Amino acid sequence: MIIITHVTIFANKGSVYFMNEKYKKELGAVETVKRIWSNYASGLSGYLYLALFCNAIVAISTPALPELIRRVIDDIFIGKDQNMLVILPVVAVIIMLIRSIGTYGANVSINVIGQRLVGSLQEDLYNSLLKADLAYINSVHSARFISNFTADSTKLRETMSSVVVNLSRNILMVLGLMGYLFWVEPNLAVIFILVLPPAAIGLRILGRKLRKAIRLSLEEIGTLSSLVSETLRGMRIIKAYRKENVYSEKAIKIIKKVVSLSMKGVRARSASAPIMEMVTGFAIAGIIYYSGNKSIDGSMSVGSFMAFTTAAGLLYDPLKAVANLQAMLQEGVAASQRLFPILDNNPTVVDNLKTKEIVDSIGELEFDNVSFSYPNTFQYVLRNVSLRIMPGETVALVGPSGAGKSTLLNLVPRFYDSTEGTVKIDKIDVKDLSLKSVRDTSSLVTQDALIFDTSVRENIMFGAKGVGEDVFMSVCKETLVDEFVKEFPEGYETVVGEGGVKISGGQRQRIAIARAMIKDSPILLLDEATSSLDSESEQKVQIALRALLKEKSALIIAHRLSTVRDADMIYVFDKGKIVEKGKHEQLLDNKGLYSLLFKTQFPEDAIE
Ligand SMILES: Nc1ncnc2c1ncn2[C@@H]1O[C@H](COP(=O)(O)OP(=O)(O)O)[C@@H](O)[C@H]1O
Ligand SMILES: [Mg+2]
Repeated sequence: MIIITHVTIFANKGSVYFMNEKYKKELGAVETVKRIWSNYASGLSGYLYLALFCNAIVAISTPALPELIRRVIDDIFIGKDQNMLVILPVVAVIIMLIRSIGTYGANVSINVIGQRLVGSLQEDLYNSLLKADLAYINSVHSARFISNFTADSTKLRETMSSVVVNLSRNILMVLGLMGYLFWVEPNLAVIFILVLPPAAIGLRILGRKLRKAIRLSLEEIGTLSSLVSETLRGMRIIKAYRKENVYSEKAIKIIKKVVSLSMKGVRARSASAPIMEMVTGFAIAGIIYYSGNKSIDGSMSVGSFMAFTTAAGLLYDPLKAVANLQAMLQEGVAASQRLFPILDNNPTVVDNLKTKEIVDSIGELEFDNVSFSYPNTFQYVLRNVSLRIMPGETVALVGPSGAGKSTLLNLVPRFYDSTEGTVKIDKIDVKDLSLKSVRDTSSLVTQDALIFDTSVRENIMFGAKGVGEDVFMSVCKETLVDEFVKEFPEGYETVVGEGGVKISGGQRQRIAIARAMIKDSPILLLDEATSSLDSESEQKVQIALRALLKEKSALIIAHRLSTVRDADMIYVFDKGKIVEKGKHEQLLDNKGLYSLLFKTQFPEDAIE
């Protein structure tokens, strides 16, 4: 019974969080283009009509070229017609003029369509990422998303533009030239057309192979991006452990795979040209034999023969393009198959239909019999946790690493939703509150204080609306940010973070604390740094924290003795459960897990 239940849970969650099964099946090219066109091409139909119109001009004017040659040969060279000697050169110039205008118009409008289409797709993609559940984001390597934005999007743009350009222009050209062939010599045209179906079948098979190779190579490019990103982040560890060779081999393996897959694609694509050449060879043989016969009995003019071969020659390029078009389309479909799952991910942490708002929060936080397991896992990380933080209280959580403390904090801003039980702010279930209310009433300061690659000011003002300079400065002074920022020549405008001035761990934390303080929400969630802050930084972070905590309700994962001493209540966690609670002295007397932890977790403090 239990097993069955687990399987169902797994199946349900699997379909929510992971790539949907339906994407593993190959999505049809037509469905893909339809979807992209209908979702992202609004306002572009003007350009589409312009492109189609220009393409039509180019296509229609193409059969005029062989006809021009026929007239030149039959009327001027053989018929010695003086008038035509004046008319035909003028006609030639007019035809070419029309063609060049048509080509220019088509190319410009097609590119506008391609760029804008993919632009809106990327906007949508980015917003889908912002809306996605953390569980989904965490299940995919971050660099894969980057390759979705670059490699996949570019591929899709190429496809969408060339599909439209090539499809309309080349199909029209093929039709126009075929029509011309029939008009000039119907029997000959039939011979010419008979050789096409076998070629089409060959090209179809190649197209399928190509689609597979392209899809696999795009996936490998994603893997390569992940490796590069991991390498850059882990550079110091890689160097320290001298794992350069291992990483180099990893990279070489992936790159070789990409190359070999791309080569498979190239071979499939290149094979389409020889197929067409062979077809053309047979066609030419047929033409020579048939028209030779006709010419011998005098029923076909030299001009007609020349026009026919010219038209057949002109057919070669658009036919080849139509054949490659299939391949291009497949590449775009492969890229879409990697993009659609992101666009289609359905976040489960969303506002429900009748959300409530908190206007003036008093800052009461309660966990009522909360149990939690991470999506796609069987194991409960939290079990029946009940605790309450009254307005203004400070509650400390302690417990061994992996006990579920950080997970508990993540349930408050609804980074994840509890599996069972409720989390309440001001006595209201957070699932009934708007995400806005939930996230405005609580601030989370994590261990790995995240600093954005922008100025100190923007880093601190991140969560603030309408904060004056005086408030800003007093926060920065209280949190001791001012102390180090005033040393920077550009002060608060100094860019910090990955691309800017590098700052120490303690300084990062003080910025993060100032950010939370400016946000001024009634509930604070702190994951205290265990990081090896030296004692001076530690003291300063401490001062900053004390300033932050004034008059707030706080839930703190405590690593410092001072925090647990000052706490109104301490909860001791082990394996997702509350095993002890009480005040510091009380818990020490209990001689339970707390007193054990106390000796190991605060060894230096214990000596004091
Ligand atoms: N995103 C996640 N997906 C699945 N399991 C997770 C995730 N984050 C943490 N866990 C697991 O949940 C348990 C509790 O983790 P955590 O709340 O970080 O513990 P603590 O903060 O007490 O050290 C650990 O066993 C950890 O492996
Ligand atoms: Mg933790």
